[in-house]
Amino acid sequence: MVGYRSAMAAGTVLCLLVVSSSVQVSMVAAAAGARPPAMFVFGDSTLDVGNNNYLPGPGVPRANQPFYGIDFPGAVATGRFSNGYNIADYLAKSIGFPCSPPPYLSLAPSTGRLVQAAVSGGVSYASGGAGIFDSTNAGNNIPLSKQLEYFRSTKSQMVAKLGSGAANLLLAKSVFLFSVGSNDLFVFAVAEQKQNKSAAELKRDVATLYASLLSGYSAAVQELHALGARKLAVINVGLLGCVPAARLNDAAGACSGALNQLASGFDDALASMLAGLAARLRRPGFVYSLADYYGLSAATFDDPRAVGYTDIAGACCGGGRLGAEAPCLPNATVCANRDQHAFWDAVHPSQRGAMLTAQNFYDSRPGRYTAPINFKQLALTSL
Ligand SMILES: *[C@@H]1O[C@H](CO)[C@@H](O)[C@H](O)[C@H]1NC(C)=O
Ligand SMILES: *[C@@H]1O[C@H](CO)[C@@H](O)[C@H](O)[C@H]1NC(C)=O
Repeated sequence: MVGYRSAMAAGTVLCLLVVSSSVQVSMVAAAAGARPPAMFVFGDSTLDVGNNNYLPGPGVPRANQPFYGIDFPGAVATGRFSNGYNIADYLAKSIGFPCSPPPYLSLAPSTGRLVQAAVSGGVSYASGGAGIFDSTNAGNNIPLSKQLEYFRSTKSQMVAKLGSGAANLLLAKSVFLFSVGSNDLFVFAVAEQKQNKSAAELKRDVATLYASLLSGYSAAVQELHALGARKLAVINVGLLGCVPAARLNDAAGACSGALNQLASGFDDALASMLAGLAARLRRPGFVYSLADYYGLSAATFDDPRAVGYTDIAGACCGGGRLGAEAPCLPNATVCANRDQHAFWDAVHPSQRGAMLTAQNFYDSRPGRYTAPINFKQLALTSL
């Protein structure tokens, strides 16, 4: 732990330093229309870069101490649920930014800093533990509805500074990134497990769940569209049943088929929802890319050695069986070969997993892990 800095501001500073050294490059890129001006990020711990560090209360999931960030520049725990960078960072890098936009709650106290961040690369509202429902892990995260409220506030401050024409133009060219839904499904699965329901009751509950989740998701997308969002990048829910914490429920450490099925059904409903919305929102413009985290994870776990993984079942940082019985805290054990692990802790991908995921979403052949276009095509679309 020598050399470990826990100051949460340090991570932000590191990224800003890179920003200033690449200002000219990004200005050239922007002038050529090669890169969107900003990214606005919504969702859960797969994308959170530190918002939860600013939330009060002992129940808030936080990644602000070792061994989180052990492979981040300077070995700082920034609030990312990873040993280093996360998926938001690698997607931002692919698109042409130094890393993920900074957490809203690190900026919000200063209107000047908030607007400055919004126009020079974007803002992240993502929060570990958050769901589509306000009730999901309530009180311990920024739920999607609140993330949208924070975006509304960001936009009105942008409008006050830049005027509505310039603000809307910037938003129309920006990428809006989403990864949300896993936490709602986890909470549902745990609640159902405690009850003894018949197959028919369970089936009915699942149908009701999907309908409410997709209605909330759709409302969020439509509201963003009304506020000026035009380019939407959506990551679906991954193989929830194969995270180390879910494998713990099986004596042999196998994936939970029930959880995977729950995720897969949600993903099908998400795909239809987006296709339907795209048809309706064509004017004044709406383009999206849906990334198949589920399919990519399944393909990776089918042939882990193809990408150099030696462990796809256990947590690198934790304790007990599969490394998933104890949390990733300073008393945990940490694996040495972190790049060979698919999972960093009991539920989150390793930095390398995040990098490979982002790479595939960004520029794998459209139709493989993204549809109808990949994130690169989305980023380069001009409406
Ligand atoms: C669950 O319900 C079934 C039938 O409805 C019953 O046979 C079984 O004993 C119940 N199990 C528990 C743990 O309550
Ligand atoms: C570390 O401490 C926490 C409580 O502070 C405990 O829940 C956990 O089991 C401990 N981990 C190990 C590996 O002993």
